Amino acid sequence: MKKSEEKQDGGRLQAVKGMRDLLPPDSRRLAAIERLAHEMLQSQGYFPVHTPIVEYTPLFARSIGEETDIVEKEMYTFEDRDGRSLTLRPEGTAGVVRAYNEHALHKAEPVTLWYYIGPMFRHERWQRGRYRQFYQLGVEALGVADPGIDAEMLSMLVDLLLKVGLPAESMELHLNSLGCPVCRPTHRKALLDYLAPRAGELCEDCQRRFGQNPLRVLDCKVPGCRAIAVGAPTTLDLLCGDCRTHWDGLVSALGALDLEHQVDHRLVRGLDYYSRTTFELISNSGNLGSQNTVAGGGRYDGLVALMGGPPTPAVGFAMGLERLLLALGDTELPPQVEVAFVTQGDAARLAALPLARALRRRGVRVDVDHRGSSMKSQMKRANRLGAGVVLILAERELERGVVALRQMKSSEQSEVPGDEVVERVLQLSQQGKPD
Ligand code: HAM
Repeated sequence: MKKSEEKQDGGRLQAVKGMRDLLPPDSRRLAAIERLAHEMLQSQGYFPVHTPIVEYTPLFARSIGEETDIVEKEMYTFEDRDGRSLTLRPEGTAGVVRAYNEHALHKAEPVTLWYYIGPMFRHERWQRGRYRQFYQLGVEALGVADPGIDAEMLSMLVDLLLKVGLPAESMELHLNSLGCPVCRPTHRKALLDYLAPRAGELCEDCQRRFGQNPLRVLDCKVPGCRAIAVGAPTTLDLLCGDCRTHWDGLVSALGALDLEHQVDHRLVRGLDYYSRTTFELISNSGNLGSQNTVAGGGRYDGLVALMGGPPTPAVGFAMGLERLLLALGDTELPPQVEVAFVTQGDAARLAALPLARALRRRGVRVDVDHRGSSMKSQMKRANRLGAGVVLILAERELERGVVALRQMKSSEQSEVPGDEVVERVLQLSQQGKPD
């Protein structure tokens, strides 16, 4: 046993470094975001898919790229009991493409619109907004080449963020085109010609990589490399005719949607599968610090074929849900329950159960306190849960077939016959009183 493991054994058991528990109220906010996302995506024809969290390692090495940070340094890779190398998924697109090919979806669904919500794993240097297990909402559209779908995807991303409460003025949409296998070599050559005389000034990683993928120098965060990147030839200037038409189409579709964006020549993304459109949504809400990219994505027109499927254009993005939560800050949540029962004795608690069930069936959020504690302590709990209405059932009420209904804000209390309780609560609910 390693020293660090011994320490864990002897002391308190703790979560793995860089992996966090998502507890209320964050987990409640996350559930609300997920509900909105399901609603919005399904209303636009996207449906959820679930792919395994673990895949065979070569899937990621081949799709994301051998020379990327993710594959070189960040994957959680291990051998399973059969001696095969498995990896906890660092992102969702590779698994989606594997599933699309494995099930020959191009035959059944020429246009495939999918999304997923789930944990991803990267062994990064962790800090605020960057974790080793994090949640992504990913959206993928396979089978469409037209830039109209890129623009629609971007407007969907922005609208989702607006709907969950991110202010419009805190968002920046950065956009670029990386070209395609036709124009990439021209850009690559221009970039290599520019970088070669400056190679000695690049950071170690970039020096090692720039021969294989000079594009990565453009998004290196090291100040020296950033300074060099400023003067580098841009992909946009060197697009081939088809990529230029695609880019122009994207810009005019964004114009039609009135979607503001900034062209960002340094936006090359950290995964190798991108072609043409790439984008990132940055939030400057102040809570995020340096990890302020809330979502990133783009086209990966070559990936399906690279992974053994038929040539299939595709575009998608993924949003980091922890980063979204950070960007939103401490937004107000609705009270945990609208109605709480406060009962005295077993018979009263039993009598509360069918009433609570009837209310819940009508969509009211209800708590029944089963601890058998004093009415005072139940009342305290009702307060803590934020109940607007408390339904009191003690012996007195039970004998007479009534319930005491207390409106917490005004402290108004009245007796309601047992069979009218549900309607009375619903009436109050409509008047907005229980909250
Ligand atoms: P990505 O840029 O690697 O793209 O990740 C997308 C988003 O996930 C980031 O913008 C960020 O919000 C979040 N994220 C990434 N790493 C971490 C981390 N360590 N901690 C917290 N949040 C993180 C992809 O993953 C692509 N699969 C996106 C895509 C889908 N492209 C096409 N389709």
